[in-house]
Amino acid sequence: MAKLKVGILISGRGSNMAALIRAAEAPDYPAEIACVVSNVASAGGLAIARAAGIATAVVPHKDFPDRESFDRAVSAELEKQGVGLVALAGFLRILSPWFPQHWAGRVINIHPSLLPAFKGLHVQQQAIDAGVRLSGCTVHFVVPDLDAGPIVAQAAVPVLAGDTGDSLSARILRQEHRLYPLAVRWFAEGRIVEAAGRVKVEGVEPDATLLFSAAY
Ligand code: GRF
Repeated sequence: MAKLKVGILISGRGSNMAALIRAAEAPDYPAEIACVVSNVASAGGLAIARAAGIATAVVPHKDFPDRESFDRAVSAELEKQGVGLVALAGFLRILSPWFPQHWAGRVINIHPSLLPAFKGLHVQQQAIDAGVRLSGCTVHFVVPDLDAGPIVAQAAVPVLAGDTGDSLSARILRQEHRLYPLAVRWFAEGRIVEAAGRVKVEGVEPDATLLFSAAY
């Protein structure tokens, strides 16, 4: 069976992108990384993608008069590569409503908190400041509202006494690198069914869409 073509959008170091590239190197992985698009020419992840032989494109947002025309240019790059799923991985641009509508049900994101808690930026610090004992990461469908789409899967980690934003971010990031490849695998296998804003992953026990990190 043909593998699902995934397009990844990044703005920075691209460690989640790298985790997806690594996962897709396994012969039995049902998706391939077709291209990586960045709005930032100096994004560290671009070099990783190029070294892995993956097509890359830079679409600088500053070249466009508004969000939607930028989004349409990014979309054209993805469509050129026949992408069937768009995975945002540290993509630091707010999308216009056009993008999630155009790619409805085919665009996902990874966010470093247990949504719907802590949306936006610096969410690991937000979690520490709020005094929560558990945080983690969420893979969710992208909708026009920020960090708001139906949740596909989550991984939980403890927030430990003495944690800083950096130490909690590192603990969460290790789980992001497990969770994102798993969610993309389920999508590629056609298991993810969305109805009325809720996601069911068919053939996967509901409990398996929540990972706990054994190693703190
Ligand atoms: C990750 O924490 C991701 O959850 C968030 O941005 C960060 C990107 O890191 N959306 P990387 O570029 O994947 O290393």
